[in-house]
Amino acid sequence: MTAQENIRKYFREVMDKHKLPPLPVVASKVLSMIEDPNLSIREICRLLADDPALAARVLAISRSLHYAQRSAPTSLQRAVQVLGLRNLRTVVIAAATQGLFSMSNNISENLWSHSLAVALACRALSERVGYPETEQAFLTGLLHDVGEMILIHGDPQGFERVVREVQQNKVSLLVVEKRTYVFDHAFIGFTLLDSWNLDPEMGQAILTHHDGAENGNPKELATILASANYLSYKAGLGFFSEPEAPPPEVKSAFGCDSDEAFAAAVQELREAFEAEKALFQPV
Ligand SMILES: [Fe+2]
Ligand SMILES: [Fe+2]
Repeated sequence: MTAQENIRKYFREVMDKHKLPPLPVVASKVLSMIEDPNLSIREICRLLADDPALAARVLAISRSLHYAQRSAPTSLQRAVQVLGLRNLRTVVIAAATQGLFSMSNNISENLWSHSLAVALACRALSERVGYPETEQAFLTGLLHDVGEMILIHGDPQGFERVVREVQQNKVSLLVVEKRTYVFDHAFIGFTLLDSWNLDPEMGQAILTHHDGAENGNPKELATILASANYLSYKAGLGFFSEPEAPPPEVKSAFGCDSDEAFAAAVQELREAFEAEKALFQPV
């Protein structure tokens, strides 16, 4: 068996054991529909109605305080209009991926916050450099550490020991993972994205997200992701080990020439996280 086949087999075992859902069919259809310039809200609603849990979530979030309107939406169609397509996309992605992120302990809660922070940072950095696929960058950020989720679910106590060692000895998470599990989370994530048939550029970025952004092109997804991972760590929303800092030319391409500009980007990320985390909380 190849390394990738091994990981897929392990992933299936972990998914079965914990009854984790695959990337839901309706959610992925809604996502591709939102990309369609000729889309009709009515068709999106018809599709959403096929997944009652997702439809209920869209309604509940459109009614939540963050999107308070004079009168709360009572129909799915009104809910979609209130949210807007961009937020609808975020809600659908969140609902689709949330099943993978169980909130059973501190480590997985920490991972969920970190994943959302990196997603928001990916979106912000994409906008700063004019990378056109901002929502793809967002999804890449959200899924970039999905390999950690597999390790946490597969071996909760063992993973706690891994984290303890990383914290005590200030060693890299990847090194300890490789020693403990043979594969690190970046390679596991890359394999999962490949098996979900998501854009290969996303998988490639996930594979290299701990390599630092050295020699990276700031307009490429891999550089955006590695830098977003670093920015999140600096915003207090990291995942245990400190990622490598992007080189000065990459920082300056993101508009962070000075320490003040970098601090402002960190602050902006913290605020975006506070504003958007409600979209991701279980309803
Ligand atoms: Fe990572
Ligand atoms: Fe990360």
